[in-house]
Amino acid sequence: PKRIFSGIQPTGVVHIGNYLGALQKWVTLQNSGEDVTYCIVDLHSITLPQDPVALRQSILKLTATLLSIGIDPGKSTLFAQSSVKQHSELNWILSCLSTMARLSHLPQYKEKTQKLKDIPLGLFVYPVLQAADILVHKATQVPVGEDQVQHIQLAQHLARIFNFKYGTTFPICHALIDSDLGGRIKSLRDPTKKMSKSDPDPKSCIYVLDEPDVILGKVKKSITDFTSEVTYEPETRLGVSNLLQIHSLMSGKTIEQCVEDAKSIDTGKYKFQVAEAVIEHLNPIRKGALDYLKNPDYLISVLKAGGDKASERAEETMVEVKEKVGLGAGV
Ligand code: TYM
Repeated sequence: PKRIFSGIQPTGVVHIGNYLGALQKWVTLQNSGEDVTYCIVDLHSITLPQDPVALRQSILKLTATLLSIGIDPGKSTLFAQSSVKQHSELNWILSCLSTMARLSHLPQYKEKTQKLKDIPLGLFVYPVLQAADILVHKATQVPVGEDQVQHIQLAQHLARIFNFKYGTTFPICHALIDSDLGGRIKSLRDPTKKMSKSDPDPKSCIYVLDEPDVILGKVKKSITDFTSEVTYEPETRLGVSNLLQIHSLMSGKTIEQCVEDAKSIDTGKYKFQVAEAVIEHLNPIRKGALDYLKNPDYLISVLKAGGDKASERAEETMVEVKEKVGLGAGV
């Protein structure tokens, strides 16, 4: 059977890279009646230091945002990773099948540890925990942005190793990526880089909950080039092309249509069109999220129900895994 699983870190605010690259797809899959499970990966967030009060608040804020963009707890299983202990349990077993060499070559690990003097072990095993998330739910499809490809490959690799050693247990999952469009939304300040939660410059990201005037300010200050025409050339004109992608995804118009509509204006004026499309799209989402946030008890109840459901499925997998690995002598 087809099973969809994906996750998002609760730290930092959701930006339009997350939204256009992954979350919109989460909603589409949910609404096309697929079996979908979505996880707020709070255990992944503590691979870097977090303030406990802020972390808790971020989880609720993310839950509110996910509900507001259209995640429906009646259709999707939405839960916090730490509430389903089987994720951590499988993480250990998969760690024993992983090698230091394989993990240290992953690009995200290299990037994240570049500036660190002491590297937490959790940061190193981060992708193993991610594999455990996917495998414990026996997911077949994982909707993510392009930056997660290597992590999905590791999950496939660990599934194969486990299946080979202990007998077929896990399906080999596949990443679902919008390769042409939302696969990688770029930073507004440096279009050679992806839009990233950990970017220290807040002007590099448009957050899903940004106020309209903030969005306008950020789009106006976005980096383009010295050509005033609006053309789509993703290889050479990164900045304008990124704006066109954002504009197209937010407005539902094709990129060609966006280019056509901007034929008589320069990139400076075009930025106002982009900002307007983004504001129009995000306004109801922001308002909805703020409403949900007024009722934290409801948000907690959604996560609790999702956690109970996810635990049941994950426990089935763990009973099978432990038996196959020979753990616990069947107790
Ligand atoms: P995270 O929280 O960084 O990002 C959540 C999702 O947003 C996508 N994304 C982007 N897509 C396009 N352009 C961008 N600039 C951009 N930035 C982020 C990410 O690809 C992701 O789909 N390790 C994961 C969380 C995770 C997970 C999992 C995902 C933990 N376990 C199991 C899938 C399955 C992460 O840090 O995502």
